[in-house]
Amino acid sequence: MTTPPIRAPKPVSRAGRFSLWRYVRAFRKDILGANPERLYRAKMAEFRIPFLHTFLVNEPPLWRHVLTERPQDFPKSPRMAAGLEPLLGQGVFISNGPLWERQRRIIDPAFEGGRLRDTFPAMLASAEGTVARLTALAGEAPVELDGPLSHATADVIFRTLFSVPIEDQTASAVYKAFRDYQGTQPLLNLAAFLPLPRWMPRMHRPSTLRAARKIRALITGLVARRRAEIAAGTAPDDLATKILTTPDPVDGQTFSDAEMIDQVAVFFLAGHETSASALSWALYLLALDPALQDQLAAEAEAELGTTPDFAAISRLRLARDVFREALRLYPPVPMMVREAACPVTFRGRPVEKGAQVVVSPWHLGRHAQIWEQPDDFCPARWQTAEGRSAVRDGFIPFSAGPRVCTGAGFAMIEGPLLLAMIARALRLAPVEGREPVPVAQLTVRAKDGVWVTLTRRAA
Ligand code: HEM
Repeated sequence: MTTPPIRAPKPVSRAGRFSLWRYVRAFRKDILGANPERLYRAKMAEFRIPFLHTFLVNEPPLWRHVLTERPQDFPKSPRMAAGLEPLLGQGVFISNGPLWERQRRIIDPAFEGGRLRDTFPAMLASAEGTVARLTALAGEAPVELDGPLSHATADVIFRTLFSVPIEDQTASAVYKAFRDYQGTQPLLNLAAFLPLPRWMPRMHRPSTLRAARKIRALITGLVARRRAEIAAGTAPDDLATKILTTPDPVDGQTFSDAEMIDQVAVFFLAGHETSASALSWALYLLALDPALQDQLAAEAEAELGTTPDFAAISRLRLARDVFREALRLYPPVPMMVREAACPVTFRGRPVEKGAQVVVSPWHLGRHAQIWEQPDDFCPARWQTAEGRSAVRDGFIPFSAGPRVCTGAGFAMIEGPLLLAMIARALRLAPVEGREPVPVAQLTVRAKDGVWVTLTRRAA
């Protein structure tokens, strides 16, 4: 008997044609559902509304052109930067040109393979704490996963960057302030999609600005403390120390405190919210497949043992496939927005300077011409020839090209490790009547949260 496929929940696409203002309203509510179903089959789509001409490019040669071949001709959209600027300042997530190049030259060495090995003990200690907290929630009552997993991934970031767990007073204050900020700045890309003329000033709610100021003040304290520890020779050998002491190989200068504060804000935002979203979805998908959970638990038991080491991560093949499959179906950053810096032609259509170009990991991950059964959760596909070739064309949850996510290697250790350790400790089951509906908030989240029940495995 063959087991039925597991369908990964997907928002209902809009039906028929919308008037401009209905479209804008739908977009404001939900970027994922506002688009028509045909985008899952299209090579390219063009949207023209007042003040905004947008191209969504799905065809692999087109998105490669934008992200990897001519990235300098498609800088990050200033519309997106405007939404995040109060928090991220001139941080690497939103900067462009020579400033961005300098930031990457200083940051990238901290995230290389050898350095990631050094962060492993901190990651492991954090994962052990997460498993203990989730185990304490086991029982008949449904558990909402987003909260505990945001806590988990924020803790990983604090421990690897600053060697402090989230319980540390400053760490937990930053974490709480971030939750407030996200409540007031709900959509990462919203500003980029709104048809407002570019000369119109971007309004930020006072509460958004207040939350951003508070986070930056707290981060300022962390950076100042670390600077003093470096001067005194007592700084721990973690990511913050590495970044603060790495000179730019071109100009020989290290980051100033102001520059470092911007980057730390980026790491907290880009590094914890994304991983938490991916893990919530991965655990939900696992909850739908008890047999797969057993296999994952067996793999974790065999490979991690009692004292897991860094080398074990590369042997967690199933955990990695589950995590990648979750990233395909629910890429935390669903769309990336760029702006054409010069006129080009896409599939015979003129793209004028200033037009918006959207590359959509969300649509690519479920594209009917790239994947077989694109909406099915099927980690086994990652071991097939078909899966491996589809990956090249349709799997860019970390983006691609020079602006690829700095933390991709970090996330591909953190995600499988947490999945393996959670599956070894707990069984998960879906909660009836609470199928999650994906929506694009700051990242792709479930509209009313991801709910499961947890049972201890040993029990
Ligand atoms: C599953 C987890 C993650 C996903 C899916 C993810 C995804 C992405 C994507 C798609 C971008 C490009 C956005 C764009 O071009 O508009 C990006 C950029 C970035 N990410 Fe990640 N990320 C993850 C985890 C992390 C972690 C753990 C860190 C750091 C600790 C991190 C740091 C960054 C930084 C610094 C950038 C900006 C790079 C640049 O613009 O040059 N990310 N991430």
